[in-house]
Amino acid sequence: MRKPLMAGNWKMNKTVTEAVSVVKVLKSSIFDVTDVEVLICPAFTALYVVNSEVNGSNINIGAQNLFWEPKGAFTGEISSVMLKDIGCSYVLIGHSERRQYFNETDKSVNKKTKAALVAGLIPVICIGETFKEKEQSITFEAVEKQIKEGLVGLTPQQATIIVIAYEPVWAIGTGKIATPDQTQKLHIFIRKVYSQMYGYGVSQKIRILYGGSVNPTNVSDFMRQPDIDGCLAGGASLEVESFIKLVKYSK
Ligand code: PGA
Repeated sequence: MRKPLMAGNWKMNKTVTEAVSVVKVLKSSIFDVTDVEVLICPAFTALYVVNSEVNGSNINIGAQNLFWEPKGAFTGEISSVMLKDIGCSYVLIGHSERRQYFNETDKSVNKKTKAALVAGLIPVICIGETFKEKEQSITFEAVEKQIKEGLVGLTPQQATIIVIAYEPVWAIGTGKIATPDQTQKLHIFIRKVYSQMYGYGVSQKIRILYGGSVNPTNVSDFMRQPDIDGCLAGGASLEVESFIKLVKYSK
């Protein structure tokens, strides 16, 4: 059985004070949730304080990015070792905004994924077709390439640990959503690719999230799909009340 994962990507939002006040409300509102794993990904500046705030609770903390070297002369970068040290258990890798604005490629995704795994972090690898790829009807090819190149060289055991977030780029922050049954087809396809790479058993174990304009109104439609194991929400995770509704979605 795959435990659902509800994740919030705060992107470049919230000061430390704002982050702490959100987390305090979140913590007391969802303390009794045990059937869903909860993850929030604040900005780097808030990670340390937010982690001390959620310590001992059912909320996991993740970063939104990392660099693949463990340490050294890489001005401005943050390593997996540093993230682990301050209590992160997850890290987002290859988010479409990083691919679009910061030249992230499947190659860098691969290096970052390996670095995260070595440090004991769970990588949440973001994949998904652009609007152009969708228009050209090459969604499946685009997604397959991102998986194959992003995961090159991983052992089946490592591949079991990671989480995939399928996020059609055209649905991120736009209010446009992929329909739940379209998404379910993509999730089945991702498991098929995974099965070819690592075997059927691994493909059934990994969690595949949907992301892209998820909100309290549509979350249940996605979560009813058998191969959607959770959501990665951006906008809807910023307001604490709406994120609580995502965590407490009803089937
Ligand atoms: P959105 O963002 O929910 O605001 O569309 C999702 C994401 O970027 O992960």
